[in-house]
Amino acid sequence: MWGEDSFITQYEYGQMLYNTPRGIGCVHCHGAHGEGAKIATYKEDGKRVELRGPDIRKVSIGTLKKSLVKRHRIMPTYFLTDSEIEALYYYLHTPQESE
Ligand code: HEC
Repeated sequence: MWGEDSFITQYEYGQMLYNTPRGIGCVHCHGAHGEGAKIATYKEDGKRVELRGPDIRKVSIGTLKKSLVKRHRIMPTYFLTDSEIEALYYYLHTPQESE
């Protein structure tokens, strides 16, 4: 499916899903390429607390699948197919191409 004459490469497909999955883009909480990002800062007991989306560049395909279907406190639950998750995985595990 991902031959040289594919309309888009698997990297591009994964990148597209990462930015605009069916739901809120991963990019908002995990950074442009999965390196992690600040979601918000707030004060708790007078201390400044930073809420961050973790670095997800090294997670396994198993962890990725599990965390997308799981209910989290902050992260939404997604309904993506296996091939969509594989494309996301491919995107996260491919060194960043210069865009
Ligand atoms: C609203 C913010 C938000 C969005 C959007 C979001 N995440 Fe997350 N994600 C988090 C936070 C916060 C955590 C860590 C705490 C938790 O598990 O809820 C997390 C955890 C994860 C983990 C587990 C990391 C580990 O080491 O176990 C993976 C994998 C992940 N996210 C992938 C994604 C992908 C892929 C998308 C898009 C389809 C996405 N996330 C969208 C906030 C977000």
